[in-house]
Amino acid sequence: MRTTFTTSKSAPAKVDAVVIPVASAGPIPSGLGYTRDQLSALGFDGAPSQTLTLPGSGSAKATVLVGVGDVKELTANGLRNIAASVARACSRYESISTTLASARRGGAKESAQVVVEGMALALHRWVELKNDKGGLPKLTKVTFVAATGTAEVKTGMDIGIATASAVCMARDLANTPPSHLTARQLADKAVALAGKSGLKATVYNRDQLIAMGCGGLVGVNAGSVEPPRMVKLEYRPAKASNHVVLVGKGVMYDSGGISLKPSDPSHASMKMDMSGAAAVLATMGSLRALKVKTSVTAYLMCTDNLPSGSALKLGDVLTMRNGKTVEIHNTDAEGRLILADGLSLGAESKPDAMVDIATLTGACMGALGKHMAGILGNNDGVLAQLKASSVRTDELVWELPFHRPYRSLLDSNVADMRNIGGPLAGATTAALFLGEFAGDTPWAHIDMAGPMEADGDNGWLNRGATAYGTRLLIDFCANFKKSSTKNK
Ligand code: BES
Ligand code: MN
Ligand code: ZN
Repeated sequence: MRTTFTTSKSAPAKVDAVVIPVASAGPIPSGLGYTRDQLSALGFDGAPSQTLTLPGSGSAKATVLVGVGDVKELTANGLRNIAASVARACSRYESISTTLASARRGGAKESAQVVVEGMALALHRWVELKNDKGGLPKLTKVTFVAATGTAEVKTGMDIGIATASAVCMARDLANTPPSHLTARQLADKAVALAGKSGLKATVYNRDQLIAMGCGGLVGVNAGSVEPPRMVKLEYRPAKASNHVVLVGKGVMYDSGGISLKPSDPSHASMKMDMSGAAAVLATMGSLRALKVKTSVTAYLMCTDNLPSGSALKLGDVLTMRNGKTVEIHNTDAEGRLILADGLSLGAESKPDAMVDIATLTGACMGALGKHMAGILGNNDGVLAQLKASSVRTDELVWELPFHRPYRSLLDSNVADMRNIGGPLAGATTAALFLGEFAGDTPWAHIDMAGPMEADGDNGWLNRGATAYGTRLLIDFCANFKKSSTKNK
């Protein structure tokens, strides 16, 4: 994250632009020198996210008005999007100051958090491999002016900095081309991040994974010249009474394997098939800064899925970490195979809840589109907590049926189950497969195939990898409560 944020009790002496929130009704901020009619004549009526750039006063080059609509109706999610439009409107200025973080009545902390998120995420670009970095937004300095409640604004700002930095890191990882980010390289990055953020990291190589019986991860890796990695990360705050396990799908590149994908444009997006692992890693990296009180253990399951003479074949049977056997009917249904081992390991520690996140099925994207993830699981309490996090973070989820009778679609002639359930209810059969490995642990699965990538810039989303799930999982861990809800 390149943008720096600070708070100040009074307007800083020198900034390129001063950003002033304007509601859609009521008085115009004094000293602006325009009436509502004059602003209307310029096409600005204070509607949410509308901006109007005017000549600056004093040393500022510009005054930028931003609409906040009806202040009584302004939500934190609305404010995050308004902040994103400010960042886009001010991308030519190096520094801005604004009272936007105090535009909502009450909730100063949350407001400051979402304004940081909206601005930092709208300004994020991945330009590592561009020689010409000239097109980058210039805006790198933002000052929140808050005459009162400054401490609360500062607290919220710091939370926003932690969450937005995590999202930017996850986006960077998912945007990185597959040959620039192998399973080994991701594991190295995880170890480095763990060192900086108070986590214990353990990396498992191929031989160790074989010894541990992780047949899913080793099996999917069979066609690749790059070895697999599993990374276990542990966050152990003092006096934690709850324990959550997160599992992330880290397919560094999904060619489909022997069941090769067609060469359509979506194939190139399969460098992002490690977005679940990226979201989990980024989440883990932020827990200490956010003073999260729950213990969290993460498993990043990392490998390519490639065809070759040594690749996994159709009809092969894998034995997974929990001993269950799986007959392979499609090597492109690889995500569930690697998650199976992570979920089995997670379940062994009997956590209070387990959540996996994966770019798992085109079927989920077909059902829900690109704006939301599907969630499914065996426990309504865990699903309800994910839904609550979704409302707070604006990372949308929709529950799909965990319909047990469809388990028979996974029946195999020769093994305990097969890895695909046929053409119908693909997101459900994938989740039912995963459920075999979560066992009795209260568990939910997030299928983020749809929201993995954005087609264009919109609000706090930018074209490319979205890092969906990062803020959702951070919020989930930060607010986690043990639930007494029985499994379905
Ligand atoms: N990584 C893909 C799912 C995917 C598709 C993610 C599009 C993001 C965008 C996954 O490994 C996959 O290939 N799933 C198959 C499963 C099928 C073979 C049962 C699919 O959805 O076609
Ligand atoms: Mn696949
Ligand atoms: Zn995949």
